[in-house]
Amino acid sequence: MDLSVNFAGIKSPNPFWLASAPPTNSGYQIMKAFDKGWGGAIWKTLGVPVVNVSSRYGSVNYRDSRMVGFNNIELISDRPLKDNLREIEEVKKYFPDHAVIASLMVESREQWHQIVKDAENAGADGHELNFGCPHGMCERGMGSAVGQDPKILELIVGWVMEVAKKPVIVKLTPNISHIEDPALAAKAGGANAVSLINTIQSIVGLDIDNFTAYPKVDGHSTNGGYCGPAVKPIALNLLKNVAKIPNYGLPISGIGGVENWRDAVEFILLGASTVQVCTAVMHYGFGIIREILAGFEQYMIDKGFNSVDEMVGRALPNINTWENLNLKYKIVADINQDKCIGCQLCYIACDDGAHQAIGLSENPEDRKPHIIEENCVGCNLCSLVCPVENCITMQRRDAGNEHLTWKERTIAGDIPDSFDDERGGGVGHHVPEPREAIAYRLK
Ligand SMILES: Cc1cc2nc3c(=O)[nH]c(=O)nc-3n(C[C@H](O)[C@H](O)[C@H](O)COP(=O)(O)O)c2cc1C
Repeated sequence: MDLSVNFAGIKSPNPFWLASAPPTNSGYQIMKAFDKGWGGAIWKTLGVPVVNVSSRYGSVNYRDSRMVGFNNIELISDRPLKDNLREIEEVKKYFPDHAVIASLMVESREQWHQIVKDAENAGADGHELNFGCPHGMCERGMGSAVGQDPKILELIVGWVMEVAKKPVIVKLTPNISHIEDPALAAKAGGANAVSLINTIQSIVGLDIDNFTAYPKVDGHSTNGGYCGPAVKPIALNLLKNVAKIPNYGLPISGIGGVENWRDAVEFILLGASTVQVCTAVMHYGFGIIREILAGFEQYMIDKGFNSVDEMVGRALPNINTWENLNLKYKIVADINQDKCIGCQLCYIACDDGAHQAIGLSENPEDRKPHIIEENCVGCNLCSLVCPVENCITMQRRDAGNEHLTWKERTIAGDIPDSFDDERGGGVGHHVPEPREAIAYRLK
């Protein structure tokens, strides 16, 4: 299976790249990663070298899972620029067919011109402009401070395009209400592609004994950048927003919470042409590429895709606005009594937190709940809380031949004062009288 891609003119043996971060801090690491199977790497951001603090990272752990969310207050590369440039040259010598992209962040027009030329002279295949770092660098007017101001972003992209001979990717910040604005500014400035997301500004948790946040630096802390599996839903949504800009046309590199082949497929189906990974490599090492490559290839075979390009954006036509969803589509929950373990989590969730559509037997010995179909709105909550796989499934109840959206309804002027007439039949649910709660308590 040929997984090779040509991303805005940057060629790579596969679409899986290391994101600019500690795993791409040195030539040693990048060569090791290429050996394992990664197709490209965005070098840890180069600029005027900084001094970093210790400690730097914090995490959100959830039950048995560590680093579900990851947070850092690290700045750009603290290694001398000349060392990084020499190592870029060396990596390209040993891996001429892999993508080596220089992530860049400086301030003045002269500095941008110089660093773009330096990176190209070292052999970088392209540039990624870091307009996303949401801590430290933004306080100095760089990183997300640029990404949040479309006019400044466009201006700086213009400076870069004055000298760049290699493709330029603009890395966008998620810390903005409408990511379409900087995405369009990048295009207006002449960029060849965009990537997203950089990290989300965050405080990951507090040390409640010592009254500070994590990560701690000598008793103090600061807001950092959030990433890892927890941010994937946000990244996917922002990717969709950019990919759906009419006639946008720039290729997109998707980033945020990718850990396995399935995540990578999701990003590509939503419009990314390459996928970047940081936290998962920091957690599990470069070796995760083996599973990503094998699973991704098998998926392509199973679905009959012949190239990565054929997959890009395949899910986009089915991601719509709410007003275009079919109001006549109707599902209800079904509990498989053979699989049910009688934990009653679904009953509690539905009765307290949803639509009172699950009942219990009068017989206290029988712990297995049942669905009250006329109350079920098909919200999915019971199937989400159920700890047994495929015990609660959602079953279709509409005939499948009716279609009516809110938009169509509004256009037809068919908006009644009340939807009472549509309750029942599973469209709405019967709301119990408050006194039924008292009756329940007395039972
Ligand atoms: C410790 C750390 C350092 C990072 N440094 C950079 C950086 O120098 N330049 C950059 O563009 N992004 C940097 N990032 C952001 C990542 O490239 C990536 O956009 C983000 O972590 C989301 O991907 P992930 O969920 O796979 O980690 C850094 C992330 C982490 C965790």
